[in-house]
Formats: sequence, structure tokens, C-alpha cells
Amino acid sequence: MSNTTHPQFPTIDPVAVPKCVRVCQNRTCKKQGAADVLAAFAALPVPGVVVTRSSCLGQCGSGPMVLVLPEMVWYSRVQPSEVPLLVEQHLIGDQRVQQMLYYRFHPQV
Ligand code: FES
Repeated sequence: MSNTTHPQFPTIDPVAVPKCVRVCQNRTCKKQGAADVLAAFAALPVPGVVVTRSSCLGQCGSGPMVLVLPEMVWYSRVQPSEVPLLVEQHLIGDQRVQQMLYYRFHPQV
């Protein structure tokens, strides 16, 4: 297969796509404190970053789950006290917070 680009599938510049943070608010994550996590994000707004509530992200039991788009970075067992670090390091600094990554999708090597 060649490595040419196809005009019908244009390359998307990830910098041009706004960041979106999805915080699961479904039953299991909510029992684990997801409402407080969402509130912690709402208290620290970042220009150009949209924070939204999400329905189940399919990873129940590892919550509260947080998904950062468009780069598909997953964070698990997020605590409200960890949100300022995530905001500072990932949303502003563009560096993943290694110790908070969800091991299933971001295995540590
Ligand atoms: S309830 Fe949050 S991932 Fe399913």
C-alpha cells in the first residue's frame, strides 16, 4: 500500500481541532465522585477547551473516567484534587499526566 494521501480523506491538523474533555457522569462513575470531578474542571476553565459531561464511556469500575479529545487520552480514577494538575500539565502544557493515564489504553512500558 502506498503512503499517499487521498483527497477524499483530508489530513486533519490536530492543533486546529479544539480540545474537548469528556467527564463520564453515568451511574458507576457518578458513585465514584464524577460530579465533583466535573465541578473541578468547571472551576478551572481553559480558553479553547470545552468540558462536557458524558454518558458511559464503557470503562465502568475504573472511574471517574475522563477522556481528552481529539487525541484520545484516557484518565482513570480521577479525583477532584488531581484536576488542577491535569489542567495545568495536559490542557495548558500539552503534556500527558503519566501517573493518571488509564493503563488499559496507555500501558506503561
Ligand atoms: S459509568 Fe463511567 S465509564 Fe461507564
